Amino acid sequence: MSEVSHTSQTQIISHNALDRAVLATAQSTIPNAQAELSYAQSASSEHRKRYGQFFTPPRLAALMADWIAEANPSYLIDPALGTGILTRAALARCPETKVVAYELDRAILSNADLGDPERVEVRCENFLYSPFEPCDAITMNPPYIRHRELTGHEEARSRVSVRAGFEIPRSANLYVYFVVKACVQLNRGGRGAFLIPTEWMNANFSASFKKFLLSDGGLSQLVMFSGCSNIFQDALTTASILLVEKKK
Ligand SMILES: C[S@@+](CC[C@H](N)C(=O)[O-])C[C@H]1O[C@@H](n2cnc3c(N)ncnc32)[C@H](O)[C@@H]1O
Repeated sequence: MSEVSHTSQTQIISHNALDRAVLATAQSTIPNAQAELSYAQSASSEHRKRYGQFFTPPRLAALMADWIAEANPSYLIDPALGTGILTRAALARCPETKVVAYELDRAILSNADLGDPERVEVRCENFLYSPFEPCDAITMNPPYIRHRELTGHEEARSRVSVRAGFEIPRSANLYVYFVVKACVQLNRGGRGAFLIPTEWMNANFSASFKKFLLSDGGLSQLVMFSGCSNIFQDALTTASILLVEKKK
């Protein structure tokens, strides 16, 4: 397989090309991951699993910040803040940007490192029930929770589906809800960088989700990591990064 391939609108980069051509050229400085390391050591694994608390590796945060920075955003949303690595990376790369960050778990917020707290408004609430506020950029690593483990999400699924004009399948993982809502909120010309597992490419909800990403979602580039890449230090999961640019 060639390392870089193209569909009509979307560039796909395999992990081999990524390692050499993308991560190596990331412009952002690699964010310090001390807050993530110390939280991971102190929180129980049950707590972290319940909220889907696995952290973005610094090099990927830098890559995502570079994509976002090219849109020169004034207003950026981080819908699943955690300890803040994506917000820190974006702030370091975008000196004029203000961030609104959502986090459901109050406990993790006391461990967050926001880099430049003056420029960040933290909302301790559920992003999926937040207003569909238009914004210039969204960077996120949303929680990954399988549909069988989801409880009380039917209202959120319906709310986001109606607004997106796209029926989120019942079998979809929670991260799909986040991606769809984020795509709805992006202004025209706005950019999103979303770190999610690769499962969406072959799951039984794939066909409609792919169609959404390529039309309304504005998927522009897709960075794929192979199953054998050790992307996360503390979780066995696959990884892909959706780089979105809203065209309409
Ligand atoms: C996968 S972690 C990512 C954390 C951080 N952004 C990063 O990239 O390392 C997802 C975070 O979202 C939070 N979260 C889970 N459900 C949420 C919701 N409905 N609204 C807002 N935050 C949520 C979790 O507590 C967790 O901290």
